[in-house]
Amino acid sequence: MKTLIKGGTVITAAETILADILIEDEKIKAIGLDFSEEGITSVINALGKLVMPGGIDVHTHFDLPMFDTVSSDDHYTGHKAAAFGGTTSVIDFVSQDKETLKESVETWHKKADKKAAIDFSFHMNITHFDEKIAKEIPQLRELGINSVKVFTAYNHRLRLDDGYIIKVMRIAKESGILVLVHAENGDVIEVLVDEALRAGHTEPVWHARTRPTLGEVESVYRTIKLSELAESPVYIVHMNTKGGVDHVRDARQKRLPVMGETCPQYLFFTADYLLRPDGAKWICSPPVRSKEDNAGVWHAVEDGTMQVMATDHCPFFYDGTTPIEYEGVRIAIPGKELGKSDFTKIPNGLPGVGDRMLVMWTKGVVEGHISPNQFVQMMCTNPAKVFGLYPQKGTILPGSDADLAIWDPDREFTYGVKFSQQRTDYNLYEGWNLKGAIEKVFMRGKLIVDDQVWHGNRGGGRYIRRGEITVL
Ligand code: URP
Ligand code: ZN
Ligand code: ZN
Repeated sequence: MKTLIKGGTVITAAETILADILIEDEKIKAIGLDFSEEGITSVINALGKLVMPGGIDVHTHFDLPMFDTVSSDDHYTGHKAAAFGGTTSVIDFVSQDKETLKESVETWHKKADKKAAIDFSFHMNITHFDEKIAKEIPQLRELGINSVKVFTAYNHRLRLDDGYIIKVMRIAKESGILVLVHAENGDVIEVLVDEALRAGHTEPVWHARTRPTLGEVESVYRTIKLSELAESPVYIVHMNTKGGVDHVRDARQKRLPVMGETCPQYLFFTADYLLRPDGAKWICSPPVRSKEDNAGVWHAVEDGTMQVMATDHCPFFYDGTTPIEYEGVRIAIPGKELGKSDFTKIPNGLPGVGDRMLVMWTKGVVEGHISPNQFVQMMCTNPAKVFGLYPQKGTILPGSDADLAIWDPDREFTYGVKFSQQRTDYNLYEGWNLKGAIEKVFMRGKLIVDDQVWHGNRGGGRYIRRGEITVL
């Protein structure tokens, strides 16, 4: 099977060129001009279109149990939404809820393998640590996993104490595993939540008020110092404060192996959204912050302090008592309404896996914050390099997987829940006018999205065993 994508403007992290792309079976065979069309199965005219690598979202939570419900996209619906939004690989987080790490990973394979519609991999959460787990962490490499996430917040649930974090960092470093850190101050949150509830504060905005900016800033600084003490690289997830990204910038200027990831929600929304009658829609952890923080995070995106733009996709219905139609079936999954009378019971998380590329193209590239090449770097190439997928994924090179998105840069449209394919009843970007539409998406050479029509399938995605991490 040979496909020729002809006449497109090919954008990679390094360059923008006019070129044809020859795909043979699952791989990019060649990039150039004037290929013979003999033996070509399908010729795609990409004149006036942009051709970019498929996106890689390294931070998703599909089918994640939380409080009395579960995130509303599973490993099929979430993958499908990702594909419509130009993303062809995802990395999801495995909960540590079985006796051994291997058993926990198997649980995630059982959830994902038969449903996967795009290629996928896993990070392992370390939320409980002892000498047995210490021995198991290096064995994750044999399962194709080269990253673990630890939490400085969610006391009594997911948090690890600093002593355990430094132990995880040392072991990870020895095994070529990257430590990802969720940085907030769990103790401060615990005190503030307790005080808020005692004072009768139950509204969504108290979610943000009890997870203070300074707690995040302090925790980011502490995380950097722990990684320095452990002499281990670190990658801080979902960064959201000006103070936090400033600490990462300082560390990187000192040549420390510190990397940062942010997500679109931390560029566009503030805690004031939580004051709206439907404020629960914006509840995520860490919370959305202030205009100053948005500006600080934008600056960190522009100047490369943040290497990766992910989503932390963890969607819930806003009103999980009212069904939506999904692939012809009516479905409702308990969601944000669970916390109607207590903000601590609102499931934490936002939809975004399908929104990321489209929103960031308009808001990032069209509005002049980043260049098209920086866009590809943050959305595709850096995620692949950091997490050991490069050059199989995240770029357009001979021999790379033919994961490609063809964009119409001129098409303007109004975005929202009706457009997005995420399995939830709302969209954060409802009514936003976007410029730049995704027309076709190839995953390993197979056309899986064509003009808003789905050609992918459950089980079409493959588990990716990841190689060496790269510290950027
Ligand atoms: O609110 C969020 N982000 N839920 C997912 C869990 C996490 O900490 O990433
Ligand atoms: Zn987190
Ligand atoms: Zn997350």
